[in-house]
Amino acid sequence: MRRLELVAYGDIASSVRMADVPVPSVADDQVLIRVEAASINPIDIKFINGHLRRIMTPRLPAAIGFDACGIIEDAGAAVRGLVPGDRVFVRAPRQKMGSFAEYLAVSARFVARAPETLSATQAASIPLVALTTVQALEDRARARAGQHILIHAGSGGLGSFAVQYAKNVLGLVVTTTASSRNSEWVAKLGADTVIEYDREDYRRRDLRYDIVFDTLGGATTRESFALLRPGGCVVSVAGPPDWQFAHQIDAGWLKAVLLHGVALPMQWRARRHGARYYRFLTESDGEQLAGVAAVLESGSVRPIIDSVFTFEQSVAALEYQARGHARGKVVIEMNPPA
Ligand SMILES: NC(=O)c1ccc[n+]([C@@H]2O[C@H](COP(=O)([O-])OP(=O)(O)OC[C@H]3O[C@@H](n4cnc5c(N)ncnc54)[C@H](OP(=O)(O)O)[C@@H]3O)[C@@H](O)[C@H]2O)c1
Repeated sequence: MRRLELVAYGDIASSVRMADVPVPSVADDQVLIRVEAASINPIDIKFINGHLRRIMTPRLPAAIGFDACGIIEDAGAAVRGLVPGDRVFVRAPRQKMGSFAEYLAVSARFVARAPETLSATQAASIPLVALTTVQALEDRARARAGQHILIHAGSGGLGSFAVQYAKNVLGLVVTTTASSRNSEWVAKLGADTVIEYDREDYRRRDLRYDIVFDTLGGATTRESFALLRPGGCVVSVAGPPDWQFAHQIDAGWLKAVLLHGVALPMQWRARRHGARYYRFLTESDGEQLAGVAAVLESGSVRPIIDSVFTFEQSVAALEYQARGHARGKVVIEMNPPA
């Protein structure tokens, strides 16, 4: 089978190559998926560029890609509830990436049946951004209907899912930021207020939030606390670590001590504002993904796809994603259905 693999850390064109490798065999707990489509996430680019070497260090050449949708071809002896022929979607775990390939063997506990209302290409765009949204807004922020949330970058792969989920599933009042190029389009996703970040400083609005979902990092993370209502919370996927981060990446004691040191300023800032601060990495979870599938089937959230590339165009697809201006998700089709 063909798979895209990382041969060295650096710029995309010189770091990845298409390789011919044997189709993986399944362990007892795994399913073998014939991948129809896979979507790209910024973490793929960060991994290729070598920016994640402190937390992900697979031996090179390494399989890459997290999100996939495809058909189960084989299932290990211990797998229950999934059988060959099922169309499934998955966000592969950090320790076992490899969705940019014609076949992916992955533990069945990370896999769920794909929404019946979606094509494989649409379903492949969902897992990572959906799990991130659920783990941020429900598991950490504990969002409740009627609360006001600021979601940064509503036009991105993550933001375009999170805006819809926050509004239509959780019943939140949603403010988001987007460029003037994208603002009307993002409003149609369900945002109550869109602040055009290229025309206006989002901090100047007289708005206060129960939750800030920080997808930008840098100064945005620090600035978020001043915008919170009392008892509010900043949940970040781009800012500095929180207390739990070292535990999440299984850091050894030395790294854990260093990470706690790095976490201190933001945790102090949170305490000064009487707020909570979370910074987390998304975890793969088949049960949560099954819940997401039901939401998509209900029509409350729809997939937002910026562009679709063929498998042969993978490098161009990754380079496009790396430019950082996608409106929704970028998808690669491997074995498109006939
Ligand atoms: N748990 C995790 O650790 C986790 C999980 C998922 C995502 N993430 C991180 O979250 C970030 C966002 O992910 P993504 O998938 O949404 O990325 P993305 O799709 O590449 O985001 C691109 C979008 O961001 C918009 N944007 C850029 N700068 C902006 C600004 N200053 N204000 C508002 N919008 C801005 C762009 O709009 P314009 O073209 O109009 O500028 C574009 O539509 C990435 O850094 C990713 O690594 C982390």
